[in-house]
Order: sequence, then C-alpha cells, then structure tokens
Amino acid sequence: MRGLHIVATGHYAPKRVITNDDLSKIVETSDEWITERTGMKRRHYCTEEEGNVSMASAAARIALDRAGIDLSEIGSLVVATFSGDYFVPSTACLVQRELGLPDEMICYDLNAACSGFLFGLETVRGLLLQSEKRYALLIGSEVISRKLNMSDRGTCILFGDGAGAVVLELDENRGYTSVMGCRGDDRLIYCNASEDSDKKVHMEGQETYKFAVMKVPKLIKEVVAKAGLNMDQIDRFVCHQANARIIESVAKVLKQPMDKFYMNIQEYGNTSAASVAIALSELWESGMCKEGDKIVLAGFGAGKTWGAVVLDY
Ligand code: COA
Repeated sequence: MRGLHIVATGHYAPKRVITNDDLSKIVETSDEWITERTGMKRRHYCTEEEGNVSMASAAARIALDRAGIDLSEIGSLVVATFSGDYFVPSTACLVQRELGLPDEMICYDLNAACSGFLFGLETVRGLLLQSEKRYALLIGSEVISRKLNMSDRGTCILFGDGAGAVVLELDENRGYTSVMGCRGDDRLIYCNASEDSDKKVHMEGQETYKFAVMKVPKLIKEVVAKAGLNMDQIDRFVCHQANARIIESVAKVLKQPMDKFYMNIQEYGNTSAASVAIALSELWESGMCKEGDKIVLAGFGAGKTWGAVVLDY
C-alpha cells in the first residue's frame, strides 16, 4: 500500500477581515451569539480584485516554493471548490496558467462541498498511482462570500473565503487509509444554480449539526480501525472547521483531549473545501507535527458527503 506524502503546504486568506461586530451591522445578530454558538470571531472576504483563481494560485505558489520541486514533475492539479470564478473554464486550468505549470498535465475542479479536500486526496492518490509524473497539486479554494444571502442570518454568519494547497507524492514508507461516502441530499445544505433561484447558500443549521455530531465520530472510529490503529495512537485530528461545538463534541465522543484537535475556526469561519487545507498549512507552519506523526483528516458537508483519511505526516 503506497501512502501519500505531504511534501509542502501553503494557504492564502483575503486581507479583508469581517468580524462578528461587522456582521451585526448587516444582519440581526451579535458577537456574543456567534461566538457562543460557533466559536467564530472573524472570517475573510475577497475584495473585488480577488477571486477563486487568485486565491488558489497564491496558496499554491507558497506550497510550490516550499516544496522546491521541478515543476515539470507535476502531473495533475485538482481544485476542490463549489465557488469557481467561472462554470468553465475550471479554476484548476486558470491556476495552471497563473503558475506557468507545464501543458502535460491533467487539470480539473472537483465539487464535493466541505468534503472536497478529502475527496480530492482520494482522487489525487488515484491519479498519482497511474501517473508517470512524481507530484500532484491539490488545492481547496472557496469564495463563499459572493454566494451568501445576507438576510439569512442562520447561514450567512458561518462562511468565509480562503484557499489551501498541498504538494503530494506517493511514498512506500507512509500509510494511507480512507473512508469516503455520500447519501444524496439537496435539502440540508444547497446552493441552487437554477435561473429562478437566488443562487445563494442555504443551510438547515440544526439538522446539519445533528448529522455532523452523529456522523463525524463514527467516521473517524471507522477509518482509525481500518488503519489498524487505536485512537490513542493518533497524534493529531484535523476536522472540517464548521463549528467549534461540533469539534468539541467529536473529541468528547472519541475520549480524546481537545489539544489534539487543530482549530482555527475563530479566524476563518467555515471555508468549505479550503478548511482542512488551510488548517494543514497552518499546522505545517507551526511545526506542531513531526515526521511520522499519525494524523486524521475528516470532512463532511453538502451532498451529503463525508470523508476521512489516516496519513503519516
Ligand atoms: N444571530 C442571532 N440569532 C440567530 C442567528 C444569528 N446569526 N441565527 C439564528 N438565530 C436564532 C434563530 O432565529 C432562533 O431563534 P428563535 O429561537 O427565536 O426561533 C435561535 O437563534 C436558535 O436558532 P437555531 O438555528 O436553533 O440555532 P442553533 O443553536 O442550531 O445554531 C448554527 C445555529 C447554524 C450555529 C448551528 O445549527 C450549526 O452550527 N449548525 C451546523 C453547521 C455546520 O455544521 N455546517 C457545516 C456545513 S458543511
């Protein structure tokens, strides 16, 4: 079983910061309510000049600089997103142009909402297994601020923009175990594209919350058991950043200390497919993980979709 090696990471968040107090001037809410219910304090919104391609490219540029690899050795570029600047071309094709990557590569976007980065890892590993090139680039990038209905206070306060990127290669000495799934649903979380809709994100908050606190611990238990490990052997959990209370509940059910769970929700809110990627990049920068650490990445979201992997850092 050939595992995945995270060669390098990078992330980018727009400079425009929106605090809970800023939101309370637009919609009937308060810093106290948002902090208590979600753990969020700030999120970042793109300026007019920024977009999905510019953010994804900025994150990828950092990851590639850190990786220090020969760009001709990259065989695939996948961007997990549901909020591209265009329906076509894909964000991936435009990032390829921005970064001056070689023509001899496959570039496309993948839409699995907040599970996008997890589905992306599974997909990229498959691509690497049949590729003649050594490396792949996986990016999670979202501009959700342009898809928010600012009068839907139960939804609009939750989301932000950002991008995270990883350079990946196969590695004989590292493990890779995954559990992925989907149960088709267009009621819990959706962003309708039809002409007669408002084309904005809407979420049934309470039901999504219940789904997450039930599904995520089960998912993590399943993937850790499949890897032949027990929970105490996991050094770090990186969950999709949807709500601090969801992550706390997962830690409690798994009987694991909160300090094993990376959390940056206070800074970014929910950035969907970018959230696990940004967290990984921050972990990389912090030096909190050391080579060989066992890490679990887990995501869930619209679709409904879910996915978790166990990796050797
Ligand atoms: N500010 C103030 N009050 C708000 C509010 C806001 N932004 N949004 C909703 N409310 C009100 C509601 O109108 C309701 O008022 P009522 O009791 O008078 O009817 C009350 O707060 C409770 O609303 P509810 O939706 O039950 O709140 P909640 O405790 O479920 O918290 C979420 C709402 C969205 C924070 C929570 O449901 C959640 O985090 N859900 C999951 C999110 C998630 O996992 N997303 C991932 C998608 S990938």
